[in-house]
Amino acid sequence: MRILAIETSCDETAAAVVTNGQTVESNVVSTQIEAHRITGGVVPEVAARLQMEAIIPVIEQALKEAKAGWDDIDAIAVTFGPGLAGSLIVGVETAKALAFAKQKPLIPVNHLAGHLYACFAAARHSGRSGAEARNHQASATDSRLRGNDSDFDFPYLGLIASGGHTEFVMIPNHHEFEIVGSTRDDAAGEAFDKVGKLLGLPYPGGPEISKLAKRGDPKAIDFPRAMLDQDNLDMSFSGLKTAVSREVATKKLTAKRKADIAASFQAAVIDTLVRKTLAAVRLYHPNAVLLGGGVAANESLRRALNTALTKEKIPLLVTPKEYATDNAAMIGLAAYWQRDQALTEPDVFSVGVWPRAALASPTA
Ligand code: KG4
Ligand code: ZN
Repeated sequence: MRILAIETSCDETAAAVVTNGQTVESNVVSTQIEAHRITGGVVPEVAARLQMEAIIPVIEQALKEAKAGWDDIDAIAVTFGPGLAGSLIVGVETAKALAFAKQKPLIPVNHLAGHLYACFAAARHSGRSGAEARNHQASATDSRLRGNDSDFDFPYLGLIASGGHTEFVMIPNHHEFEIVGSTRDDAAGEAFDKVGKLLGLPYPGGPEISKLAKRGDPKAIDFPRAMLDQDNLDMSFSGLKTAVSREVATKKLTAKRKADIAASFQAAVIDTLVRKTLAAVRLYHPNAVLLGGGVAANESLRRALNTALTKEKIPLLVTPKEYATDNAAMIGLAAYWQRDQALTEPDVFSVGVWPRAALASPTA
């Protein structure tokens, strides 16, 4: 089953062609980062307008790269939420129009489910040679192909760490998602972005801080790790951001101090995520852990979580780096396993955007 997937929840316009929930044949992402650098963050109206400009060329490119015509596409998948309303509308309305015009079923997908299923991407898209794709697979923590329901090791514990969300999710099967812990205030990625701003780094702060942190001492400043002594899986990152802003204000920000702050801040976030993951594992006994969301692109987090879970003998499936930040491949991967939720005309017209959608069972 070949799915054309569309993702426009925030400031990326993305389309992908994904086959049988595992093979990414094309993955086109048009990012608005340059436009949002001017304002130091996403302005929703600007994001929505840029989505409209990019959506059709991005879809055409995804089909072209996958060498697929409309006859090769069995269904269309689209992110319905959570995200920015104006951005989501562009993807959802385009997907509805295409589903109607091309007579294809439509699978609405939760963005957060996409971040989790990105962990199951089996191969890079067809632009790579077979050898390159195999090397890539070998470097992934778990590269087994998953063609059937029985190839999955449910229950999984998912950790989603993105710009808008930081959540622990128990996943007993393809249709149930139970949030068992989340941030009480800022998301982990949001904290990276805010601290990036405090340090005078370009938007988004996450990749910039991780680069800068390589030159700093993670033990230089003992930043707070909130809620670790509490007997729950909730987290908080706003106090950490405040601690960084105090640190930035106290002394002259030399290049060395900047790197030390970046490294120490990153260490505090990673420490919190790793220790809370271990607490979640001990409580819920998953068969494996999934790490997804933009912050999953962070090399130090990937390494730290892998080391910690190896000691616990729990496999970690990390999203391949290229599918960590927002993309449509992850939506196509999730959609395949939720294909029983596909809508056909006239029901496709009832699909709306859900900006504050929680990650819950699609039938809930
Ligand atoms: O998943 P995503 O693309 O969008 C949302 O759904 O929010 O995540 C974007 C977030 C941003 O906050 C960005 O700073 C963060 O992911 N991010 C990183 C890294 N790359 C992206 N955070 C830490 N380290 C990175 N290497
Ligand atoms: Zn995202």
